[in-house]
Amino acid sequence: MALLVVLGFAIGLVMVALPLTQLLAKIIAYQVHKTIGLLVPPLVLWRLWLRARRGRPPEDPGLPAWQHSAARLGHAALYALLLVVPVLGYLSASTAPGQIETVMFLLVPIPHVLEPDEASYETLRAIHQVLAWSLVVLAAGHATVAVIHHRRGHSVLAHMLGR
Ligand code: HEM
Repeated sequence: MALLVVLGFAIGLVMVALPLTQLLAKIIAYQVHKTIGLLVPPLVLWRLWLRARRGRPPEDPGLPAWQHSAARLGHAALYALLLVVPVLGYLSASTAPGQIETVMFLLVPIPHVLEPDEASYETLRAIHQVLAWSLVVLAAGHATVAVIHHRRGHSVLAHMLGR
């Protein structure tokens, strides 16, 4: 999932920067971006289902309570962003005046649920952009803190990797 988010994010930045003179590359980049992004919500839901069934990895008892609370808050924000960012992306694509179709894997058309509307598109697109940055920054912070704990001899990273 981390790989999908990083790839989707990088392609998102590239696709908007591509000039219209490279139209084919731009359209393909949009479809790859949307395909990658639409894979994320079902994977999050699957992950949440597994988490509910199997329970969370054990917390490291060597860490202070405030760090456990901060971690829980961070996880909740990550899960929320992993669901909200793709949904906002999909709604942006639906309302886009240009009406570029959404075709997963360049094969499966996904119907748009909203009518094209410039004002809604601009708002949704701006929120999608800000929250996509928030997701990537939070995920990078999450990974950095895990590595810091690992270097200090705590078991957090091992638990994240299922050991
Ligand atoms: C985790 C999933 C996703 C991430 C991290 C992500 C990230 C991004 C980023 C970084 C941009 C560029 C923002 C900018 O600089 O203007 C972008 C734009 C966009 N994304 Fe996503 N996105 C995701 C999912 C989706 C999905 C599922 C869709 C549609 C099905 C989508 C549709 C769009 C659209 C329409 C734009 C605006 C392009 C434009 O301004 O022309 N995104 N996204």
